Amino acid sequence: MSGSDSSPRYVENAPLAPLTSFGLGGRARVLAQVESPGQLGAVLSKARDEQLPVYVLGGGANVLIRDDGVDGVVVQLKGGEFSRVIWNTPRVVVGAGVDMARLTIESVRRNLSGLECMAGIPGTVGGCIRMNAGGKFGQIGDVVRRVWTVDRSGCRREWKHEELGFGYRRCGLGDTIIERAELALSPSAPGAAMQRYREVWEFKRKSQPLAADSAGCVFKNPPGASAGALIDRAGMKGATVGGAVVSPEHANFIVASDGASASDVLTLIDVVRRRVADEFGVDLELEVQVWGGDGEWAARTDGLAKSESRS
Ligand code: EPU
Repeated sequence: MSGSDSSPRYVENAPLAPLTSFGLGGRARVLAQVESPGQLGAVLSKARDEQLPVYVLGGGANVLIRDDGVDGVVVQLKGGEFSRVIWNTPRVVVGAGVDMARLTIESVRRNLSGLECMAGIPGTVGGCIRMNAGGKFGQIGDVVRRVWTVDRSGCRREWKHEELGFGYRRCGLGDTIIERAELALSPSAPGAAMQRYREVWEFKRKSQPLAADSAGCVFKNPPGASAGALIDRAGMKGATVGGAVVSPEHANFIVASDGASASDVLTLIDVVRRRVADEFGVDLELEVQVWGGDGEWAARTDGLAKSESRS
């Protein structure tokens, strides 16, 4: 079934692999694409009525869908109000479905500083804020001034920066769904933001397999150490399970080669974690979210799949 202009677009038994940067995994019982808070409210209400869990998919850049898919409603905030960008320089109000890479380049073209650290980071604004995406050059939480959300029961709320609890690759929003956000950028000298953006982009291009099918860094960096360096020192670069490969370029990336399955990636993740634990006594925590299955596997890693992604 598909919706009219004012109703969500529903697709039953929808393949999710093409919606993720890994390009792996099974189907969603229902995929709902929404363009407005009203449509999102309708999807949440239907999911409550049918007692289905709701998963929010941004750009699919940090998720691994299990091969047997997701028994629930996967909702994507895309187009319409969720793709709107309102410039009120140096501030900007952005819908959660706005493409992060496009916003980043547009901001530096306008000689605005604050998002250069996001060069080379894929995904949507909502997804990036939800996980406080960033890297050694900074993270998006630093420029988030306000966020507007809706929770699974349909209640809307505005959050100020200091209420958002940003930390390393996390924020305190829990299960709440981001609808839009206000970012506070700052004016920079002509060309300066673009120059910085290019430097960050160049660093990534040289050190990361940006063109490969992956979900970026698989593990969070443990306190005071680098997951990539630990995996590298454990001799895991180039290790494979089926079509899943530990990137020879950056050891914290697992890339999917031809014929890879989500289960190959999950097995390789387990192998890497065990090796790093054996060699260095460090228990690596997943950064990538794993969706689907009965949650048992996720519980053995970091619980993200059930406790943060599902309602
Ligand atoms: N290193 C190795 N071998 C490797 C990879 C890295 O020895 O295979 C060493 C590097 O030489 C460096 C250290 O480990 O001394 C840290 O590596 P890098 O500078 O590449 O940064 P990172 O901590 O691995 C973080 C983010 C990246 C982000 C970069 C750059 C995490 C888990 N990763 O990587 O984010 O792009 O900084 O800002 O925080 C992501 O979140 O998906 C991601 C890729």
